[in-house]
Amino acid sequence: MGGVTDVVRLGATVRRPVRPFTATVQAYLRHLRERGFDAAPEALGVDDQGREVLSFVPGDVPVDPLPDDVTTDAVLLDLARLVRRLHDAAEGWAPPPGAVFGSIPGTPDPPLEPLFEAPELVSHQDYCPGNVVFRDGRPVAFIDFDLARPTTRVADLVNLLHWWAPLRDPVDRAPALADVDVVPRVLAAVEAYGLTAAQRAQVVPVAVRRARNVVHAMRAAADVDPVFRRWWETGTAEEVVRTRDWLAAEAPRLAEALA
Ligand SMILES: Nc1ncnc2c1ncn2[C@@H]1O[C@H](COP(=O)(O)OP(=O)(O)OP(=O)(O)O)[C@@H](O)[C@H]1O
Ligand SMILES: [Mg+2]
Repeated sequence: MGGVTDVVRLGATVRRPVRPFTATVQAYLRHLRERGFDAAPEALGVDDQGREVLSFVPGDVPVDPLPDDVTTDAVLLDLARLVRRLHDAAEGWAPPPGAVFGSIPGTPDPPLEPLFEAPELVSHQDYCPGNVVFRDGRPVAFIDFDLARPTTRVADLVNLLHWWAPLRDPVDRAPALADVDVVPRVLAAVEAYGLTAAQRAQVVPVAVRRARNVVHAMRAAADVDPVFRRWWETGTAEEVVRTRDWLAAEAPRLAEALA
């Protein structure tokens, strides 16, 4: 299982290496459960070999490029509603003192262009296809909260839109979405989530900044991490630049539609 993380399944659980942010993520997952959000793995502590234990979520996890059956509008709207439920459950959670959050390796310091002034909640921030579990063609859970950290509703939703609208150059999309105008899909997703007018106005500027940040973050990660270096050298370098440039070109049209 997996690319970055050494994940093994053991019966109804998965075991993953303990990292500096594991305790924070487990506390967060427990909070989500207490607030009634069940579309995420259950945090089950650490096993006798020192590995993190999470419940295994049965279902299918797609890989990029998206298979046709998960490129429908219905799936996108389900995902937007699932993120809304996640946000509503997350709101009000105060990270424990000294909480450590995960990040992409080598994240540049000083930081990238900020996506918000002040965080509103802790959320997932990494809705790539490999982090969503489907059953009967519908999304039922998010997994892999390794990049969960303080963020805003808009910044987190923009990550979902990147992968699933998607906010990507046509050549990087699933075949079924290559010729699709993503503007109506973004509008529908934003409506399914229920963003306010003020939040809608932030979507495009945040997405544009995020896409610029990703170029720097992935390049920095490639310098320090062999997995990211391999990705960088096998297409990621070109892809992140295409995403950034496609989004910059589409930004005016998308912003007008959202206004
Ligand atoms: N709790 C879980 N329930 C079901 N499947 C899981 C769970 N955790 C991990 N998996 C499976 O293992 C894969 C890798 O796990 P995870 O996403 O946590 O690690 P990763 O390092 O991000 O791997 P990748 O780079 O492939 O996303 C997932 O894409 C999924 O197929
Ligand atoms: Mg993952």
